[in-house]
Amino acid sequence: MNKLIVANWKMKFSHREALDWLTISLPEVHQAIADTGHELVICPSFTELSFALSTYPNHSWGAQDCANVLLGAYTGEVSVLSLREMGIRFTLVGHSERRKYYGETDEEVRKKAALLLEHEINPIVCIGETEDQQETKDEVLTQQLSAVLDLYKEDDAAIIAYEPVWAIGSGKTPNKEELQKTIEKIREQADGSLVLYGGSVNPAIAKEFSPFVDGFLVGSASCDSTLLKKIILSC
Ligand code: PGA
Repeated sequence: MNKLIVANWKMKFSHREALDWLTISLPEVHQAIADTGHELVICPSFTELSFALSTYPNHSWGAQDCANVLLGAYTGEVSVLSLREMGIRFTLVGHSERRKYYGETDEEVRKKAALLLEHEINPIVCIGETEDQQETKDEVLTQQLSAVLDLYKEDDAAIIAYEPVWAIGSGKTPNKEELQKTIEKIREQADGSLVLYGGSVNPAIAKEFSPFVDGFLVGSASCDSTLLKKIILSC
């Protein structure tokens, strides 16, 4: 089955480094996409989106965040309207780094997801428990999901990225059985949605988890084109 693979570059590249990657490495990665039929969405920083879209208009591009209001006096924010006009098709919301470092709440995640849906951009809603919340994981995930699920019309498939916060950037991952159970519970609540896994994804993890999930949200490994290609080919 074809998978949705989302590359979250975070702020790992400077502008020049990102442009070099897009110019030199993306054509090689495209071959892996063509060979497998998977969809790859790359989420660079806002500063590279314009170059990315004009150079590769047929590729799928995503933003890493958006403002929770449409337009106005909000210094430093980026409007959903601008993303829509540029041709962005996906946007991450509720990433654990936004929740942790910028205090993003479920209420803000909801506002962002609502604006994105209104403007026909697919929100990729990130949910996940922290290390301390592992015992209450089900409640945490249910609360994060319930912040957005009623926004979707019957035919709209939500895209949910389950990322245990303790697995992000740590090299740790849940065991297969544990992940399978969690994914099933998410599917019970978010019927018909695409459920991705994120957190220290590498080619071996992509291969192991691929049967249970609809795709992956890949952080660090997505900045390395050789690893990214291997992940694509492992799904
Ligand atoms: P990681 O990040 O793959 O580097 O663990 C995943 C994410 O934060 O989306």
